[in-house]
Amino acid sequence: MKVYSGLAGIPVVKSSISYIDGQKGILEYRGIPIHELVENSNFLEVSYLLIFGKLPSKKEYKKFVDDIKESLFLDEAIINFLKDIPSDTHPMKVLQSIVPILATFDKNKDVLDEKHHYSAAVNLLGKVPTIIANWKRISEGNPPVYPDKSLSYAENFLFMLTNSLPDKKIADMFDKCLILHAEHTINVSTFTAIVVVSTLADFYSAVSSAVGSLSGRLHGGANERVFYMLNEIEDESKIEDFIREMLNKKERIMGFGHRIYKTYDPRAKIIKQFLNEISKIKGVSNLYKKALKFEEIGLKYLKEKHIYPNIDFFTAVFYNYLGIPPQFYTCIFAMARISGWIAHCKEYLKDNKLFRPTQIYDGGHNIHYVPFEKR
Ligand code: SDX
Repeated sequence: MKVYSGLAGIPVVKSSISYIDGQKGILEYRGIPIHELVENSNFLEVSYLLIFGKLPSKKEYKKFVDDIKESLFLDEAIINFLKDIPSDTHPMKVLQSIVPILATFDKNKDVLDEKHHYSAAVNLLGKVPTIIANWKRISEGNPPVYPDKSLSYAENFLFMLTNSLPDKKIADMFDKCLILHAEHTINVSTFTAIVVVSTLADFYSAVSSAVGSLSGRLHGGANERVFYMLNEIEDESKIEDFIREMLNKKERIMGFGHRIYKTYDPRAKIIKQFLNEISKIKGVSNLYKKALKFEEIGLKYLKEKHIYPNIDFFTAVFYNYLGIPPQFYTCIFAMARISGWIAHCKEYLKDNKLFRPTQIYDGGHNIHYVPFEKR
């Protein structure tokens, strides 16, 4: 027997939700190339596709969107709970704490019942953006901005977060950024979710655990650190020395590298296009200029090791353009990945098997207790 550290390359499930070709840089959701979905669809329609396995009819889509709009609002008890949390609590900790409480308000308790799958999807897709936006307002000492059902999903989130109506073109790009973050086969937070649901814990527990997993800087937490990393560098002339020093110290460059992609992350390419578009509306920011230079020099050192920018690298710059504080970047990743987490939980339960790996024991045997006085 051998240990497969990190289960690298070990299939633990069969799935038809998404597909990645790491050599060619291909990503498909339910067999549809990601660029086609970004060009033609929107986040809620893609969420339906991921969770229910097909593009919705007009009637199915309208019901899904209407049900999510009805679930945008938080119970006052949750808002009061947010007001009692220390204001410097990291937003991902707040999210991980509040998500399981949402189960209290869901009458569909049986995780094996399709009704639970639908109500959990609608509640989480509706309420998680409101929790995130409310936390930003409350943690800054401002009253929460209540959801506006007349706005699109992306517009409403940016409105609640910034208390101002977003530019429609920018909101549309944000919606497409959510599509790019929605799903990515058995990444570590999705694996976390299906491990939790394999015990028949409910979708709220699975998503809360996945939020915890996503918060790590080797996973979703990287986007926030890309912002700090780029800001640590005084100006473009210092970038090459900065990169060389990190590599000499064997440190991981945030926003670069991927376990599966050994070429350019197709999602990073699309977000880079969004930056080009948004810079025409908002101007070329210093952060954007630094990021482009960092990418050029980073690739000079890392391309030969098949290490390229991943989804988190340019996302940090995009969110900065939107006025989102860096500590909220991974929350945006989480609110989008709810769809992928729920899709995989739903799919896994069709043929559930409790996850219980084993180990190769390399400790001792027949060791006896030694009282304090003899230690
Ligand atoms: C996400 O799995 C998913 O799909 C995740 C995700 C999703 O949508 O769910 O795509 C989202 O998590 C994207 C990744 C975000 N994380 C980061 O940007 C953090 C920085 N990246 C690295 O930590 C790293 O690239 C990983 C963790 C993402 C992947 O690393 P692996 O596949 O485990 O590779 P490794 O850590 O074993 O490194 C292999 C070699 C090492 O060099 P040697 O020791 O063999 O000489 O590559 C080097 C590493 O030093 N390396 C890097 C590097 N990533 C790998 N060197 C410098 N900078 C990096 N970023």
